[in-house]
Amino acid sequence: MADPLHTVAALLAPVFRSVAGVEADPVVRASDRADAQVNGALPVAKQVGRNPRDVANEVLAAAAGPLANVATMEVAGPGFINLRFSDAFLASELATAARGPHLGVRRAETAERVVVDYSAPNVAKEMHVGHLRTTIIGDALVRMLEFVGHEVIRENHIGDWGTPFGMLIEHLLDLGEAEAARELSVGDLDGFYRQARAKFDADDDFKQRSRMRVVALQSGDVETLRLWQELVDASAAYFNIVYRKLGVLLTNADLAGESSYHPLLDEVVQRLDRAGLLEQSDGADVVFPPGFSNREGEPLPLIVRKGNGGFNYATSDLACVIDRVERVGATLLLYVVGAPQAQHFEMVWKVCEMAGWLQPPARCVHVQFGSVLGSDRKMFKTRSGDTVKLVELIDEAVERGIAQVRERSADLTEAEQESVGRMIGIGAVKYADLSTDRIKDYVFDWDRMLSFDGNTAPYLQYAHARIRSIFRRAGVDGGVHSGEIVLGEEKERSLALRILGFDQAVNEALERFSPHRLCTYLFDLAQDFTAFYEACPVLRADDERIRQSRLALCDVTARVLHRGLGLLGIDAPDRM
Ligand code: ARG
Repeated sequence: MADPLHTVAALLAPVFRSVAGVEADPVVRASDRADAQVNGALPVAKQVGRNPRDVANEVLAAAAGPLANVATMEVAGPGFINLRFSDAFLASELATAARGPHLGVRRAETAERVVVDYSAPNVAKEMHVGHLRTTIIGDALVRMLEFVGHEVIRENHIGDWGTPFGMLIEHLLDLGEAEAARELSVGDLDGFYRQARAKFDADDDFKQRSRMRVVALQSGDVETLRLWQELVDASAAYFNIVYRKLGVLLTNADLAGESSYHPLLDEVVQRLDRAGLLEQSDGADVVFPPGFSNREGEPLPLIVRKGNGGFNYATSDLACVIDRVERVGATLLLYVVGAPQAQHFEMVWKVCEMAGWLQPPARCVHVQFGSVLGSDRKMFKTRSGDTVKLVELIDEAVERGIAQVRERSADLTEAEQESVGRMIGIGAVKYADLSTDRIKDYVFDWDRMLSFDGNTAPYLQYAHARIRSIFRRAGVDGGVHSGEIVLGEEKERSLALRILGFDQAVNEALERFSPHRLCTYLFDLAQDFTAFYEACPVLRADDERIRQSRLALCDVTARVLHRGLGLLGIDAPDRM
């Protein structure tokens, strides 16, 4: 174990048991007032009807033996116990963390199969800045979940089915397949869609053809399906360009679009019918999940089959839950989708529970997020008022990153400047997104996100590169530095304690599916490192043992920064 809080909790559990006579969680937490605080005496005292301070004092006495080399303790307030870890204990925990491949981060207690539904752009439509958030947040969650030992199934629920495909296919035929493929692959998706839409609205013959095409598509006409597949493939190729530029893990293997649930939709309705949940409303098949009402206060239905027999978005999301639980065998289903779809998901999941498709331990979580705003605090738009194309934003980020590096790091070769600049630009965009509480809106601000000061990617990347440069100067580049760690100075101690907080940071970020908790931790770590580095000479330490210990501290700091940024999908160059 390499998390002092957990080590102490494990040591104190039997002490609590013997003092209180019942099983009790010692509740060991990080604290501002001490290295850690033990809060468990209060609840257990209440449970057994005793005075909490008395219980705390008895715990203190009984723990003196088991915690002798670990920490000194003191009872405070109504029955808290404040801990100060011994330097030797911290050093040995740190040595354990530094040796392990996970840098002290615990494996999940129960490894689960987790489906992460994210990105999910729509075929033949542009990816906008809105897709940025789901793609980046989803990517970070996937990396963190895997890191703690879960089995993650990425699912990209692209919008690849529905009535618009009638007009899109007809437009594709009008253009000629080759020309259509060309337009789509260069990323003029919105142009393609708009042209189709304009013809649909203006030309009755086109409209008629489009409608027939939808019928052909839904009845599985082979030629129509081939044309449809062409549209999907062209869009997917374009999405992949965006994903590669952005450096996220999604590939074609993760595609699980709405169309893939199509064969299940009839069954969804039949199952609901058999469960006695199906009702009629305005000619449509619906389910009324309790607790949802419209503005007039009337019960709100979830429509599963429209009056014309067509299925809709909700039907495929119902099928999707069945598929993820029954076929994939997932117990945790994450949906990284914007806040406006909250009610849609609540209703879908409620219906799944009513039908018995979603039962513990299986559960769904809406990992929702706010909007990206412009400097006017309105939706982020281009100067001409258009929505911002994601790919243009990414290209601009890279350009700006490279420009920064050219200015700051003239000593790097041109190729290095380019690759580092790319890491900085993309890192800045990702970090700005991930470091704000995802529920909140945030203002997209190039200057702030690219700044080398403050809670930004460039600041953290630079902190990492600076540590690496210490090793270059010491002539001991590369390799892990696992010299014995001795903690004497206060700043060494606080850095050590911070490094050991990596476990908690990752776990807290995962508990709430909130990557910003990890960001805050990395920023604190970089600052603690700076404080240490200012106070404690490393290469010029007078004593060889201290020099080696400090190099080991530098090394593990750099590796936690590198790994932590990596969990956010951000690269950290060795020099910049
Ligand atoms: N394609 C949808 C959109 O752009 C998002 C899909 C999210 N996932 C889901 N299972 N509904 O709004």
